[in-house]
Amino acid sequence: MKRVGMLTSGGDCQALNAAMRGVVKCLVNSKEKVEIYGFIDGYKGLIYGNFRMLDGRDFSGILTKGGTILGSSRTPFKTIKDPDENGLDKVDAMKQNYYKLRLDCLVILGGNGTHKTANLLREEGLNIITLPKTIDNDLWGTDMTFGFQSAVNIAVDAIDCIHTTAASHGRVFIVEVMGHKVGWLTLNAGIAGGADIILIPEIPYDVKKVVSKIRERNESGSRFTILAVAEGAISKEDAKLSKKEYKEKMKNYKFPSVSYELAQQIQDKTGEEVRVTVPGHTQRGGSPCPYDRVFASRLGAEAGELILKGEYGFMVGYKNREVVKVPLEEVAGKLKMVSPDATIVKEAKLLGISFGD
Ligand code: F6P
Repeated sequence: MKRVGMLTSGGDCQALNAAMRGVVKCLVNSKEKVEIYGFIDGYKGLIYGNFRMLDGRDFSGILTKGGTILGSSRTPFKTIKDPDENGLDKVDAMKQNYYKLRLDCLVILGGNGTHKTANLLREEGLNIITLPKTIDNDLWGTDMTFGFQSAVNIAVDAIDCIHTTAASHGRVFIVEVMGHKVGWLTLNAGIAGGADIILIPEIPYDVKKVVSKIRERNESGSRFTILAVAEGAISKEDAKLSKKEYKEKMKNYKFPSVSYELAQQIQDKTGEEVRVTVPGHTQRGGSPCPYDRVFASRLGAEAGELILKGEYGFMVGYKNREVVKVPLEEVAGKLKMVSPDATIVKEAKLLGISFGD
């Protein structure tokens, strides 16, 4: 008999359900008897003992469903060690619930913050298996995370739609793409959507270079320019500020995001009509794309197999086209960023895309 706890934590994304279904299908198809404890709303469910007993039927028909059947919440690592408002030690509470239910292991699906907490629980002696979810694709130790390809599709749809209206009106358009502090989503969506300028956090931009690319396009007869701008993009000027100075600047920031400040600057310098489009959380919503369905199912199945073998303390990731197990301590606390020297950046530049650097 295996008693398996499961939770989804952090911002949701497509294919969370597909991944959980993969784990459960593998377990149910084995000869082992299993009990599944689904904790509600991420670590909160584990802290406060809020769970549902699930069986194979709960995972039927969810392969194509976005979101998470378990619900999710953000519990930042910074505060996980602090007691809650009633003085409850959260880590202790999670351990107590784990032992009270006599769980053999916990399957945790999440991104960066989630992995820090998962590793902490591993250090505290719990058996943990994690699965890498995030539209940002910024998890260390895996070439790919599920949710990412679905989000690329949605961001590309937005850029495609903007192309036609930008061409009709001869406008400059900024499409602001999610991705938190990294540029994977913007870079891939920008290339796939045929953006002329791509701005990502890893390559600080110079407004003058952005403007000169727009002028160059106008002079060569193009009626419009499309910019794919990461929500975390940063100008060279801002990149020079200390953390404290940048925080201070953002305190009095009058724009909803960097895209709007950039739009204003471009408009002032070129006299062009500039518009900003923010697909926002649509990038995390809806059904997983076929790639993510396959990918998340594969990772889920491999996680199920690790549970059957009793091998714990790993994230099931993807490296060099193979599903691999990565020790949790190697994953936690590190960010996988785009290297400015990556060949994908070089190739994008060869395609004529400007990074404003
Ligand atoms: O990590 C996924 C993500 O969608 C980021 O791309 C984005 O910065 C953040 O979550 C948004 O978080 P929230 O859903 O809390 O607004």
